[in-house]
Amino acid sequence: MTENVDKSRRNLLLSTGAVGAVGAGFAAVPFIKSWLPSERAKAAGGPVKADISKIEPGQMINVLWRGQPVFIVNRTQEQLDVLASLNDRLKDPNSETAQQPEYINGTISRARKDELFVVIGICTHLGCSPKFYPDLVPQQFDSEWKGGFFCPCHSSRFDISGRVFSGSPASRNLDIPPYMFLDDNTIVIGEDQEAA
Ligand code: FES
Repeated sequence: MTENVDKSRRNLLLSTGAVGAVGAGFAAVPFIKSWLPSERAKAAGGPVKADISKIEPGQMINVLWRGQPVFIVNRTQEQLDVLASLNDRLKDPNSETAQQPEYINGTISRARKDELFVVIGICTHLGCSPKFYPDLVPQQFDSEWKGGFFCPCHSSRFDISGRVFSGSPASRNLDIPPYMFLDDNTIVIGEDQEAA
């Protein structure tokens, strides 16, 4: 699959898709109202549902779960294809010290479905929220950038699987919450088959 996401739409997402430091409060992005959890679910801290049917390849949405931003990215085949080539540049390419469900272990895609990446959007250094840089183009912070997340607080870099690059102050890969698919269009964050 080639990356053919409309640039103007992507730029809009980039300009609005990141949130500030968690300590400063979470800025929910109203992409589509149905993606946001109900007030009752937020108050209870329980699982939240999200509609994933309208996330186009290369795009990301935010969902709030237990007061934390959860990023859901519909990855392109191009983004997936480069993952293995990045292993030598990463601190923990196989996510051996990562905080993630068992069913994620052993995969560089770190996902139940390769294309759909679900990750807690909090930097594992000091808790800022990383920004989404999906394009495989050189960036000021990385001349060999292949898509991923960049934390502006102290310049931690993560690939599109949330794996932290060597030289970043963050010590471990981004955390992955439990989740499951209710159907092709709906995901539940905070619950999985094993827990259900
Ligand atoms: S909080 Fe992200 S690099 Fe420090």
